[in-house]
Amino acid sequence: MTFPKNFLWGGAVAANQYEGAYDVDGKGLSVEDVITYKPKVDVKDYKTNAHISLDGIKSAMNDTDITYYAKRRGIDFYHRWKEDLALFAEMGFKVLRLSIAWTRIFPSGEEETPNEAGIAFYEKLFQEMKRLGIEPLVTLSHYEMPLNLALKYNGWADRRVIDLFVRFSRVCFERFGKYVKYWLNFNEVDSLIRHPFTTAGIIPELCGERGELVCCYQAAHHQFVAGAKVTKLMREIVPDAKMGLMLTKLTTYPRTCNPEDVAATQKKNLENYFYADVQVFGEYPRMILRDLEKRGLSPVIEAGDLELIRANTVDFVSFSYYMSLTESVDPNAERTPGNTILGVKNPYLPSSEWGWQIDPVGLRISLIELYDRYRKPLFIVENGLGMRDTVEADGSIHDNYRIDYFRAHFREIEKAIDAGVDLMGYTSWAPIDLISANTNQMSKRYGFIYVDQDDLGRGTLERKRKDSFYWYKKVIATNGEDMN
Ligand code: BG6
Repeated sequence: MTFPKNFLWGGAVAANQYEGAYDVDGKGLSVEDVITYKPKVDVKDYKTNAHISLDGIKSAMNDTDITYYAKRRGIDFYHRWKEDLALFAEMGFKVLRLSIAWTRIFPSGEEETPNEAGIAFYEKLFQEMKRLGIEPLVTLSHYEMPLNLALKYNGWADRRVIDLFVRFSRVCFERFGKYVKYWLNFNEVDSLIRHPFTTAGIIPELCGERGELVCCYQAAHHQFVAGAKVTKLMREIVPDAKMGLMLTKLTTYPRTCNPEDVAATQKKNLENYFYADVQVFGEYPRMILRDLEKRGLSPVIEAGDLELIRANTVDFVSFSYYMSLTESVDPNAERTPGNTILGVKNPYLPSSEWGWQIDPVGLRISLIELYDRYRKPLFIVENGLGMRDTVEADGSIHDNYRIDYFRAHFREIEKAIDAGVDLMGYTSWAPIDLISANTNQMSKRYGFIYVDQDDLGRGTLERKRKDSFYWYKKVIATNGEDMN
């Protein structure tokens, strides 16, 4: 048997994409609540999709629409949590990765005391998960910071946000620590540079003459400091818990063996690793610091910051992996979209309708690279295929393409484990259809469970088991032995 005995099989979700109930029980507006679904979405133009203006935010705040503000409605997990957890348990989940909406606990991010109704919601989830034997893996920050902090402080660009986040995290550890032993600090910490508003509450107009990029690297530094403070706090409050970082593993190959392509690729990969390097090694990579300095982007680092980062590194390394890209110095090389990134097309790989290149071997390569680099236990906390599904007349959903995708990726995971990689678990993105992070679509479906809702929020929200549901259940039951 290749998969370790206690391997944590499960799925991953994020509050802003599935909870809905955006204004219920005292919840405040988060940055995701002002992002709209655009029917004519151009997947290549992820920058425009992620763009936000002050006027846009203000008009969103005065609008109570939930058709186009798709994340406000999610898939109504807030009211259907019991049914959904039961479905996860039916598949045999050992773990569920979920996030806590900061705005349910501190609606504006600045209150002195937490919102008890928000705490009660998560408490009841954790109690039910315990009853079902599902271990929670909790992300403290998954694109859902209070909108107030974006408007008032320009999000993480302002150092004062660190303490507000620590206050929120303290409540999470104190109130949920008895249930939660696995924590992640920032989802896809590297995504700050690609979609600064949803990751870090950065509004370009508030960056002034310093420019958005300066704000981004300053915000990244503040997240590193906050991450270290929160790890320290977790160890004091929940000593038996473990903290992980979370990286978007944007595996990039050279398009050709032209040494210039190889060098450009190396740079790309080092820029991606940077965010994990700081949190595992406890120091900034010297080459990144030098590069930032040359580009006039050096963050302000206060006395004590580097010592704090050095003393509070993470226990494990988690990452998302969906696709791979290539890099080339040829300006005419054909480009293709990936996860909030554009790269050069790989002629050997097929792509999904959204342009993401499907590369199971890339997952093995990623696991081996990450383990070799960090020598820390790894956790795959997102991996999956966004596709349109068809519901047959009898209600069945034959998603063989999804089964094929997972099977091929699991086979590569097996090879990596066999090669010696220490892997704690695997959570698919997402076990149930939910709102897409990038495009706000419902039709880009990832789930083993179908949710009856279209891009404009029409539908009964009924849950249906797809063919992949039964397949994944079997994989978990046999601990990966039977993938047929
Ligand atoms: C990851 C995010 O980048 O990719 C998730 O952490 C997201 O929140 C997932 O949903 C898939 O992206 P998308 O845009 O297809 O939902």
